[in-house]
Amino acid sequence: MKSLSLKSLSGIILTFLIIMMSNCSSPKNQSVTDLPGIIPLPVNMQVSDGQFILTPETKIICPAGNDEIRKIADYLNQLVKKSTGFQLIISDSEKPGKNFISLQTGSLPETGTEGYIIKSNRKGILISADQPNGLFYGAITLWQLLKVNSNGNSAVMPLVQITDMPRFQWRGAHLDVGRHFFDTDFIKKYIDIIALHKINVFHWHLTDDQGWRIEIKKYPLLTEVGAWRDETVIGHPWAGKEPIKYDGIKHGGFYTQDEIKEIIDYAADRYITIVPEIEMPGHAMAAIASYPELGCTGEKVKVRTTWGISPYIYNVDESTFRFLEDVLTEVIDLFPSGYIHIGGDEAIKDQWKGSKKIQQQIKDLGLKDERELQSYFIKRMEEFINSKGRKLIGWDEILEGGLAPNATVMSWRGVQGGIEAARQGHDVVMTPTTYCYLDYYQSKNTDKEPLAIGGYLPLDTVYSYEPVPSELSADEAKHVLGAQVNVWTEFIAAPEHVEYMLLPRLAALAELTWTPKEMKDPDDFKKRLEAQVERYKMMGWNYRPLE
Ligand code: ACM
Repeated sequence: MKSLSLKSLSGIILTFLIIMMSNCSSPKNQSVTDLPGIIPLPVNMQVSDGQFILTPETKIICPAGNDEIRKIADYLNQLVKKSTGFQLIISDSEKPGKNFISLQTGSLPETGTEGYIIKSNRKGILISADQPNGLFYGAITLWQLLKVNSNGNSAVMPLVQITDMPRFQWRGAHLDVGRHFFDTDFIKKYIDIIALHKINVFHWHLTDDQGWRIEIKKYPLLTEVGAWRDETVIGHPWAGKEPIKYDGIKHGGFYTQDEIKEIIDYAADRYITIVPEIEMPGHAMAAIASYPELGCTGEKVKVRTTWGISPYIYNVDESTFRFLEDVLTEVIDLFPSGYIHIGGDEAIKDQWKGSKKIQQQIKDLGLKDERELQSYFIKRMEEFINSKGRKLIGWDEILEGGLAPNATVMSWRGVQGGIEAARQGHDVVMTPTTYCYLDYYQSKNTDKEPLAIGGYLPLDTVYSYEPVPSELSADEAKHVLGAQVNVWTEFIAAPEHVEYMLLPRLAALAELTWTPKEMKDPDDFKKRLEAQVERYKMMGWNYRPLE
């Protein structure tokens, strides 16, 4: 007879505990809409009569010697403290007969790597999951279920049975720190905000024309020079009504590699993967200002002080590829992410067109035009990234001139890029401007809103987004990894302004990437959002008030 492995034994024990918990109360099907404002809405939730009463004596129980689960217990404890003021005891001793929250992993493959089960009765709560990721999300749901009693001595939670797991594996939020620099404290806050929405990818846009933000040891001028611009244009430089004005204030900053490691760890503790973006071949003016030999004109330029896209683009000399590979080597050494984002968007080709040397290189390489040169450029980067065991992702312009063989496409100029890439058998992440660009205004009454880039993207429109284009067959649709919101910061200089643009629209993205499509209900979402906004207040996060 085969002996039982520890893992299968823990699975059996866990199943037994779940059954025991289930038998203690009789669940009845209740409309999920009657429940507290959980966002994103869980896949399956049943509620029974009665409540679990949480008191300062409630114990959080986690398995002995499991540091990872202990960290989740600490995290839950911090959340509970925020809501109730109670500092609970975390213990790895035997589960007491009553008044406990127990966190356990075991064999629950039916909930996937990110799913979880919560069962509660009057005596206690059991959160179980196949993997710690799921426990983390279960802890967040549990926190959302808590209601503090008016006497302040206890908090209550309805008795529930929840089985939950996300619809998509990529639930992303992006932040542009190139246009405006945000310090490490704010990046951590941003990570906290997105984590509590069960977002699992932070796309960190680290380089752009207006600033290079990541320390690269081999090329110190990238941050000595490229991280700083002399001043910043005021307002919309393209509005044309008034002469363009600048603020005269030096702006900049960058993250040291130590700070980056700290942030990566901080995100990992919240089950967030950081996908770093190093822009190429365009959006390269800060890099070219640091090392003019990377450009096509030899000019000594300064870091860009206005918005819009600069024409400065990397040349295609071997020494430039070496530079980019060196940069990516340091990036890959820092970031454990499976994906490395290489930008690829909005590369103005005028300097390639105007350079005799580059025109000759196009001929020598047997390429047709500048679009094929961009494709050649990206393919070389992909080969390098793949050689390091990582995958390349880029904006949908990387389709032009031919997609690199293993590339994943981030579809932003509408959904067509995503459709085309999926049809070619490539994975895609959907982030079309019309549904996912949080730098757009949230109201038509723009005078009453903080400055935004333009556009109009209210909460309802974000919520209405369906990431899988109807044009795709079932097989093609499997290539849609998920969706993401983007926060570009040309017009967003202050952390609280980032929060205002992010919240509550992030809640809509959270739900559409987590909850099954058939369960989405805008009216119910709006009702649940009221509780979510109360949480924003409690956490001290800025947000756009609900209408
Ligand atoms: C982009 O918004 N340029 C990707």
